[in-house]
Amino acid sequence: MRILVTGAHGLLGQKTALIAAQESAHEILLTDLDPTSIFGPPRFEYEQLDVTRASDVKSLVSQYRPDVIIHTAAMTDVDACETEREQCWRVNVDAVKHLLVAARKLEGCHFIHISSDYVFDGERGSYDETCRPNPISYYGKSKLASENAVVASGVSATIVRTQILYGAGYRVRKNFVTWVLSMLEKNEPFRVVNDQVGSPTFVDDLAYALLRIAERKTTGLFHISGPEAVDRWTFARNAATVFGFNPELILQTTTSEIGQTAHRPKNSSFVILRFETTFGLRMCGTMEGLRRFFEQHRDGTESLQDLFARKPS
Ligand SMILES: NC(=O)c1ccc[n+]([C@@H]2O[C@H](COP(=O)([O-])OP(=O)(O)OC[C@H]3O[C@@H](n4cnc5c(N)ncnc54)[C@H](OP(=O)(O)O)[C@@H]3O)[C@@H](O)[C@H]2O)c1
Repeated sequence: MRILVTGAHGLLGQKTALIAAQESAHEILLTDLDPTSIFGPPRFEYEQLDVTRASDVKSLVSQYRPDVIIHTAAMTDVDACETEREQCWRVNVDAVKHLLVAARKLEGCHFIHISSDYVFDGERGSYDETCRPNPISYYGKSKLASENAVVASGVSATIVRTQILYGAGYRVRKNFVTWVLSMLEKNEPFRVVNDQVGSPTFVDDLAYALLRIAERKTTGLFHISGPEAVDRWTFARNAATVFGFNPELILQTTTSEIGQTAHRPKNSSFVILRFETTFGLRMCGTMEGLRRFFEQHRDGTESLQDLFARKPS
């Protein structure tokens, strides 16, 4: 099978590539904004691709002729999306349309789109796929519009909503856990909100799930996250404990006290039953995910060079 991955230098894109290298023999073309690949020995091909450039998207997709496109590229800085709205829309919505136009021209091409819990307002929590979205940030609006574009396109597609990705990646934007760890390393007290609840997702599990979805080309909307609802303060303290830092350094604060640029849902936790029953896969809870992350970190197996040197089994 030929898989095209966008945003392959991002956290989820990297993990998808690394796990594909270990778990599958698929032919994979990685793409991102950078002119050259960050990956070592070329298990996969790499092409520079700015997904906002319609003609580049069209020519790359028509030349490579993927069976599946895993679209992880996005503008993911939620506060920047609030202030740089045009750029947010170009990357998070218009680019999706460019990819869909290109995919529609290929017979049997399946599109896997990554969306977000931020399509919900967070007033109730425990959201399943039947719940009505009501985004309260521009990022959330852009992700909902991108979902609608996928549905309207008629292209065979899976929409995956996920949230609070954590794990290791080479030169990626800080995720919540890596931010907490960088603060803990300073050995000074700092504050984390205790009134934002979500379902943290170990990125390795999501990447693994995406590859299984690619193989089955199952269409529809799926919520994929860790199974628990946890507030950020508790999650941060758990990360401190697992990584051997002092959890008492992490003090509590509230969303209203820190005043983030974009509104955040209070409780956007997911119910993931549809995903679990459809695919028979299990997503790990936060303590297990944090321990697995710690083990990778301790073993040093997170080096891209090391992982790519291994033959896929
Ligand atoms: N991280 C989370 O907690 C979370 C939660 C819910 C949903 N999601 C969704 O999951 C997906 C993957 O997220 P992630 O955490 O892996 O994001 P990420 O680490 O920010 O990776 C996104 C990648 O896309 C690239 N990119 C940005 N604009 C591009 C463009 N015009 N053309 C091509 N590539 C471009 C980025 O490059 P630069 O870094 O150079 O900009 C980056 O390498 C996204 O759709 C995101 O919305 C993430």
